[in-house]
Amino acid sequence: MGISIDVTTRKKAENEYKEWLHKLEQSQRLESLGLLASSIAHDFNNILQGVIGNISLANELLSENPQAKHLVLRAQDSAEKAAEITTQLLSYSGKNSCEKKMIDLTETVREAYKLVERLSAKKADIRFDVSLRPLPIFADIRKLRQVVLNLITNAIDSFKSKRGLIYIRTYSATREELLDLNLEVINEIRLDNYAIFEIEDNGSGIPANILERIFEPFFSTKVSGKGIGLAACQGIIKLHEGFIGVSSTVGSGTSFTIGLPLQSSAEIASNLNSSTQLSDAKKLKLNSNFLIIEDEEISSNVCTSMLDHLEFKSTLAKDGKTGIQKYLEFKSEITCVILDVSLPEIDGIEVYSMIRKLDGNIPILLTSGYSLGQISLDISADTQTTFLQKPYTMKQLQDSLNTIIKTDGANE
Ligand SMILES: Nc1ncnc2c1ncn2[C@@H]1O[C@H](COP(=O)(O)OP(=O)(O)O)[C@@H](O)[C@H]1O
Ligand SMILES: [Mg+2]
Repeated sequence: MGISIDVTTRKKAENEYKEWLHKLEQSQRLESLGLLASSIAHDFNNILQGVIGNISLANELLSENPQAKHLVLRAQDSAEKAAEITTQLLSYSGKNSCEKKMIDLTETVREAYKLVERLSAKKADIRFDVSLRPLPIFADIRKLRQVVLNLITNAIDSFKSKRGLIYIRTYSATREELLDLNLEVINEIRLDNYAIFEIEDNGSGIPANILERIFEPFFSTKVSGKGIGLAACQGIIKLHEGFIGVSSTVGSGTSFTIGLPLQSSAEIASNLNSSTQLSDAKKLKLNSNFLIIEDEEISSNVCTSMLDHLEFKSTLAKDGKTGIQKYLEFKSEITCVILDVSLPEIDGIEVYSMIRKLDGNIPILLTSGYSLGQISLDISADTQTTFLQKPYTMKQLQDSLNTIIKTDGANE
């Protein structure tokens, strides 16, 4: 009798140890995949800067030739798809920068759905069952849109050849109500009130051995799958202090439940579509002189050409030290510094703080193949500095410059 108790206790301890090892391995693997993902994304963004930047320039020059313009637009389309993939990869790392504002969850979901409405309607019936009351959340609308799109796409993929049914729900739920749902993510439900977005399909369902891997980056069961959709979703949700739970039954379907902290004040930004504001290059002073500090030739070439096209003069420095020397030499003539963050030897962050010490007001545009969150630099208090992630188009460069270079009368 005594012996059998001993054996069970030992077995139990062994099992617990094995489970713990498994979890540790899993989390280490995820961590290294995260590092891999973000370094690939960084390198690709630098290359894509050459593609997207040059295409947007060519597009400007081709206004007279509609046929060539059409081809250029197609190339731009493909390049943007590639950029979308790197964005997803960066999202996975979870340290991505965030532009949060107060928005309504339901409105965001509806708006994202509109982008894929035509495609979805061909393959599935969509039923909306959404909250009538606003669900204010403090969130990055573009990232949230990405989550909604990824989940809808996955649901559609799960139907294979038959026509499917997708339920999209939004509602608010208290902690107690959520605990009753028995989601696997119970530990992550820490707040009292959540805004919930739920998407349920009646597709193929996910077998248990696959279910435990679906959030891994690069894990996919699809022939042409990339396996970054759910990894990106998880990164984004983490960034919003939310949770994402999944339940699935093979043969009957899958349901994803996402919770985001529900805000009490309902001051919701109504400008859902105005994330990109039009602005005019002419607002910038002519005869501006830009100092570009950038080691990657592809990026510096594109940047120089873009500034050329906007009829701005520019000077190039290929590393931080030369950058500071040139800054000191031409200080009085420089309107703005365009500074890459990852430079050899003295890195961009150091160059940034040195230039800031020399002049508290000179506009500085920081660029990088990483996102702002990943380079861990807080520029929120510096109104004369902004960040532009590669790859960027000419219009995005223009818009960023407009935000830091004051053009009102006082500065002329
Ligand atoms: N709604 C769903 N129904 C069935 N399987 C799903 C669903 N969502 C995700 N999966 C599984 O999770 C895997 C990973 O998804 P994801 O990260 O979006 O990558 P991808 O869609 O490129 O394969 C998919 O390959 C699929 O096996
Ligand atoms: Mg997917």
